[in-house]
Amino acid sequence: MGVDALQRLRGFIGEIATLVDTAPDETTLIEQGKASLAQLVAVDDWLPAAYAQPSPERYQQFLLYADARQRFSVVSFVWGPGQRTPVHDHTVWGLIGVLRGAERAQAYRRDEHGALLAAGPEALLERGDVEAVSPALGDVHRVSNAYDDRVSISIHVYGANIGAVERYVYPEDGPPKRFISGYSNDTLPNLWHFPKDHRQS
Ligand code: FE2
Repeated sequence: MGVDALQRLRGFIGEIATLVDTAPDETTLIEQGKASLAQLVAVDDWLPAAYAQPSPERYQQFLLYADARQRFSVVSFVWGPGQRTPVHDHTVWGLIGVLRGAERAQAYRRDEHGALLAAGPEALLERGDVEAVSPALGDVHRVSNAYDDRVSISIHVYGANIGAVERYVYPEDGPPKRFISGYSNDTLPNLWHFPKDHRQS
């Protein structure tokens, strides 16, 4: 990975910043953001190895960039073989682009009593595919590595400093649980790293 390769990430961050500067409606933002993210994940030569390391314990969320005004953040999600998230929400818009491997996403919706039900079939996102979530589009899902024998990596963009956002996981056998995800950058501290002691998940 050379300087030119990292330029892809820098260019992408500039595009998202310019887009957010125009305060577009959500449809425009997601459409244009998806186009930029699709370009970024079309070539897998730019993600530094430190941000591509799986952990045997849980999937990793490495912060790549957070906007100075916390209007957006960019994260690499690194899935070890067979790893998956709990059912969770985001509370802000989010874009997901698969850089390496593949992942599965199951969306959930609420029935008339407020209970969560699987909405539609599980989607398979393959390398280069881009998806979106938001409170308007559908904000609750479970995501997993599509592979049991290799690492997958996706690049996520969120409409906030996502590691510090209070949101919910939805256990199958209990009430919703508040959580703040933090980031996995333990050895790469930065201003946006939510204190580990405050992590609940
Ligand atoms: Fe998610």
